[in-house]
Amino acid sequence: MLPACDRNGIRVLDAGRGHVAPSAKFHVDKALPYRLGFTKRMGQDCFPKSTEIHYGIVNLSFFLLYLPANYKPTIRYPLMEKPFILHMLTTAKNLSPFDVNMALDAGWVSALPYINVEPSEVQGLVQDAIFSRSTKNLKRTGIFIGGRDTKQAMDMLNTAKRSMVPPFEVSVFADPSGAFTTAAGMVAAVEHELITKFNTTLEGKTILALGGTGPVGQAAAVISAQAGANVRIIGRQLEKAELIADLCSNEFGDGKITITAGADADKADYMKTADVVFATGAAGIELLSAELIASAPQLKVAADVNAVPPAGIAGVDAFHNGTPIAGSNSGAVGIGALAIGNIKYQAQNLLLKSMLNCEKPIYLHFEHAFAVARDYIKSRA
Ligand SMILES: NC(=O)c1ccc[n+]([C@@H]2O[C@H](COP(=O)([O-])OP(=O)(O)OC[C@H]3O[C@@H](n4cnc5c(N)ncnc54)[C@H](OP(=O)(O)O)[C@@H]3O)[C@@H](O)[C@H]2O)c1
Repeated sequence: MLPACDRNGIRVLDAGRGHVAPSAKFHVDKALPYRLGFTKRMGQDCFPKSTEIHYGIVNLSFFLLYLPANYKPTIRYPLMEKPFILHMLTTAKNLSPFDVNMALDAGWVSALPYINVEPSEVQGLVQDAIFSRSTKNLKRTGIFIGGRDTKQAMDMLNTAKRSMVPPFEVSVFADPSGAFTTAAGMVAAVEHELITKFNTTLEGKTILALGGTGPVGQAAAVISAQAGANVRIIGRQLEKAELIADLCSNEFGDGKITITAGADADKADYMKTADVVFATGAAGIELLSAELIASAPQLKVAADVNAVPPAGIAGVDAFHNGTPIAGSNSGAVGIGALAIGNIKYQAQNLLLKSMLNCEKPIYLHFEHAFAVARDYIKSRA
């Protein structure tokens, strides 16, 4: 005989004396911590609530034989809380395995992929998720937005936010292509080098984002411009770089920042006034040569997110972390992809953790990623 299920999800073995044969055996699932107790027929629970049976076959004969007539035995599953479910939306064909690992490692129990999602489907998916759980259990529910397109991801985040029906509301985190957390890690690492090695900050610095038209370059440009830097996004085609710079200034920066654009062919000129360089181009492409580094009179920090050889910046190894760049006449230091990747990992992990069980739903993107990356670096110092 199997235990019946009550309305609260507590399975009750309704089998006191007279209801079930004393020799009845009950199979108990090994995976769950069970608790055997007794419930007084007329109401409240009583002894021995703390008796735990972890696995095996429970033979209730003993208990049933000696059970007072007005008690019935119950099997409870006190630890069977609702699992933490992260609904992971992407407009791409595949959800990033990196993001799935990150979600589960941060404590989410289920990381469910929704692939090829159309932005117009976000409202329906969000509302399907929020109305299926009580408000208490919604704290154990979250939404992650991936994909490759930064604007689309921010639009989807905003749509998700607008689709909530308080108090039915869950946290949402956008990190398309890992770009928000990668950019946050890079800018926080650069800021740290400026402070510790050059006794200055991002404020007023001239930054070149080489290959900056992709997701990582865009987010890095916006984060550092919001921190007070003068940022130029460099691409092979000036027109494309201008469109992206405009998107960054007006969409992501709300028109409160001005990011300019430049052509890759002109970067030798731009290097004459650059304090900081980000190499955020596609993997395995050198964007800054040793000659250009040597020619930069005020270069302080050069950061490269590309982990695939050759390095995006000549002389900057993936392991470099504030390491002097050989051949730099201005004493610039380099930060490589693995050093940045470590901070990116911490930022993404902390943001995914912050969504677990949080009292008030939160909506996370590149600004939050930068805040936690900065805090992480401070905590390490
Ligand atoms: N370290 C980490 O934790 C981490 C995490 C995520 C990503 N990443 C790395 O971050 C980098 C940027 O990622 P992303 O997704 O933003 O890059 P992406 O979109 O693939 O490329 C960025 C830009 O690179 C330029 N580019 C492409 N092919 C080029 C070529 N052959 N020569 C010169 N420029 C070229 C393009 O700009 P134009 O067409 O405008 O020139 C493109 O917009 C990648 O190297 C990626 O592997 C690192």
